[in-house]
Amino acid sequence: MPDRKKKLDEMVPSEIVRNLDEYIIGQDEAKRTIAVAIRNRVRRKRLPEDIRDEVTPKNILMIGPTGVGKTEIARRIAKLANAPFIKVEATKYTEVGYVGRDVESMVRDLMGASLSMVREEMAEAKEEEVSLRVEERLLDLLLPAVEGSAGSTDVAVGETREKFRALLRDGVFDTKEVEMPVDVKAHLGFEVMGNTGNMEDIQNALNSIGSMFSAGGGRKKRKVTVKRAREIIMEEEMDKVIDPDKAVDEARERAEEMGIIFIDEIDKIASHGNTSNSDVSREGVQRDILPIVEGSKVSTKWGVIDTSGILFIAAGAFSFSKPSDLIPELQGRFPLRVELHDLTADEFYRILTEPQNAITKQYRALLATEGVDVVFTDEALHAIARIASEVNQTNDNIGARRLYTVMEKLLEELAFSADELSGQTVSITEGYVRERLSGIAEDQDLSRYIL
Ligand SMILES: Nc1ncnc2c1ncn2[C@@H]1O[C@H](COP(=O)(O)OP(=O)(O)OP(=O)(O)O)[C@@H](O)[C@H]1O
Ligand SMILES: [Mg+2]
Repeated sequence: MPDRKKKLDEMVPSEIVRNLDEYIIGQDEAKRTIAVAIRNRVRRKRLPEDIRDEVTPKNILMIGPTGVGKTEIARRIAKLANAPFIKVEATKYTEVGYVGRDVESMVRDLMGASLSMVREEMAEAKEEEVSLRVEERLLDLLLPAVEGSAGSTDVAVGETREKFRALLRDGVFDTKEVEMPVDVKAHLGFEVMGNTGNMEDIQNALNSIGSMFSAGGGRKKRKVTVKRAREIIMEEEMDKVIDPDKAVDEARERAEEMGIIFIDEIDKIASHGNTSNSDVSREGVQRDILPIVEGSKVSTKWGVIDTSGILFIAAGAFSFSKPSDLIPELQGRFPLRVELHDLTADEFYRILTEPQNAITKQYRALLATEGVDVVFTDEALHAIARIASEVNQTNDNIGARRLYTVMEKLLEELAFSADELSGQTVSITEGYVRERLSGIAEDQDLSRYIL
């Protein structure tokens, strides 16, 4: 477990690499370059302001075939540091002025991600307090009649309440219906988060809807299940303990200083040198991205976000285009080039076993829930790695993702009948792998569909 308290900005490159090593096999050069880029952000922040502005943050361009760890590296970096992270696809955006998503929305999305993160942390810190309050309020909903009934002593009421509490905790009441005042706003399920519309408009709309329910002040009594009531009350209690202004400030600072935007499929917005319409619009998107990457102010409903400290990591396979097909200004903003290479069968073997979240560990854990203990022999793991590698060569090369399809096929039968094997240990041997997979792997047509 990486130390949660330690900020990415406090880590030296070797520490970052060591952390990445726990999840990502090989790709050493990529890990090093990224670790240095992150460290350089810190170094830049330490410069006096006048020099700092001259030193532009260096963004990273990751180049490599599909399924070799590009996204995974970025994702891990973000997790490592608890940094706000979003992954976007370059192809999702359209030029300003055209129908579609404008590129500035990536900054708003980052801020949204940062805010949920901060809110979650703040809520976590108060979790105990909040869940106790939620429970009391649920009990109040379940018990009004009992408490009001004549002749009941305080002791009896208290006892009933405790009995109900135990039942409530066991989920006995989950489907029971209770009547409670429900916030109209919450109940309409307005998707306010991530909405790019004018807040004032939204607020006005909400107010007018609220006034339709006269006395309730925007709240109306409704019948809901206890399960749903718990969610609603939870949200209300959370809002009470989280100071929204503080959350927004903290979230903005985090997004600006530690935010990472991962732009995938950047190669798909590179033009191929000719001047077809689609090339022109792709170039338009590149031009729109430019100021954001260079550092500009983007307004969001949470205020203005300065993008100059955000780390951008772009990635693409570049099999049909080259980085030099991007407009020069954009190329210049991604000066750190990292090439990721195809993974070897040996690396596949390590991916199967070494990472903290390794696939074999995942399957073991899954089947353990049925009381089945699955063990893989070393030879079996080598065989799986080899087969995955071979299928990649004969069919599409989908990188490490092939391991998932191969494993799924290999364990299909076991997954189906696991319930009958409860209490047993199942050993996956090389023989088992061959028996289940060789026929398919050798038949190209068959493997194309099955693996
Ligand atoms: N080097 C690696 N070490 C460990 N696991 C890996 C590695 N490369 C890929 N994987 C596994 O394969 C999956 C796919 O990898 P990833 O999402 O990083 O692909 P990608 O390089 O971003 O490909 P694409 O260009 O298709 O987006 C990951 O979820 C991860 O489980
Ligand atoms: Mg990817």
